[in-house]
Amino acid sequence: MSALYQAGITGLGAYLPAKVLTNFDLEKMVDTTDDWIRTRTGIRERRIAAKGQKSSDLGLEAAKQALQNAGLKPADLELIIVATITPDMLFPSTACSIQARLGAACGAFDMAAACSGFPYALAVSEGLVKAGLYKHILVVGAEMLSSFIDWKDRATCVLFGDGAGAAVVSRLDHDSGHGVIASYLGSDGNQADILQIPGGGSAHPPSEETLKQGLHFLKMQGAEVFKVAVRTMEDAVHEVLRRADLELKDVDWLIPHQANIRILNAVAERLELPPEKVYINVDRYGNMSSASTVVALCEAVSQGLVKKGQIIVLVAFGGGLTWAANVIKW
Ligand code: UT7
Repeated sequence: MSALYQAGITGLGAYLPAKVLTNFDLEKMVDTTDDWIRTRTGIRERRIAAKGQKSSDLGLEAAKQALQNAGLKPADLELIIVATITPDMLFPSTACSIQARLGAACGAFDMAAACSGFPYALAVSEGLVKAGLYKHILVVGAEMLSSFIDWKDRATCVLFGDGAGAAVVSRLDHDSGHGVIASYLGSDGNQADILQIPGGGSAHPPSEETLKQGLHFLKMQGAEVFKVAVRTMEDAVHEVLRRADLELKDVDWLIPHQANIRILNAVAERLELPPEKVYINVDRYGNMSSASTVVALCEAVSQGLVKKGQIIVLVAFGGGLTWAANVIKW
């Protein structure tokens, strides 16, 4: 069935907290070295939210920029989707907080797809706009991983950072010649335990025992996650291109989830994409979960790297397990 309308990104924004935490700072906190972190992950530094800041604060700043960039007012929004695994609280949603503080009058909900959050939310908004249900949807990826990291665990604390990105997804004329062409979503809940925050929900409600065991912290079996990340991101790119009726040679930019430079290099190599077609900022921000892909897209566009008419593939992988990809003609 062909869509009634086309859906495209009409505005982008990003917000990175001012505080920079370098690998050298981490050397003073845990048994690690700048050399280990750089060679194993590609990360040099990451941003950390200020005391008292919360995910909605980061998301709100990115959202304001995206609206301005789209030339829209909060009143134009008909829906707000916030992808996050580090919400302000279990409920109300971080999306409702952003809706209220923007002064928008529309529906709002959070989506938990971990690092795949932005491509997942983009796919949902693409569907809603193409079906004719909404004209303008604000999609935010906002994370404050620093609140859920065990700062004594060197295996995880060196990897993550805080930040937010936002996109306005709008209805476009069918013959506009650009927009989101296709999306693909995947999951495998059988592998939930290799990447999770086990405590704080109904499975392990907060108690002295869960606190003692550190169940409220992010847990990861890094080497396992690494292998699945490479395989699923490669597969997701193939599948989304098949759905878009395009080939790898048509891709101008791969904008992947920024987890580890070795993962990105391995995915690019398997896809036979040259490094200059892969946008990288993991060195500056580390892994910002659902904020990663949208911040990377925002940077690539604002730096003028992405040109009108080019084909962009967003791809991500994360806890759930989840994976997702979108093809956009810019
Ligand atoms: O967003 C999606 C979620 N996350 C990811 O995609 C992350 C996927 N995984 C990874 O990026 C990598 O697996 C890591 C960066 C987490 C780890 O790299 P690795 O090459 O898989 O290392 P490893 O876990 O096999 O550990 C190698 C060694 C171990 O020491 P031994 O047992 O060989 O003596 C670790 O204890 O490195 C040690 N190690 C560290 N050493 C210094 C682990 N973390 C550190 C550290 N500093 N920060």
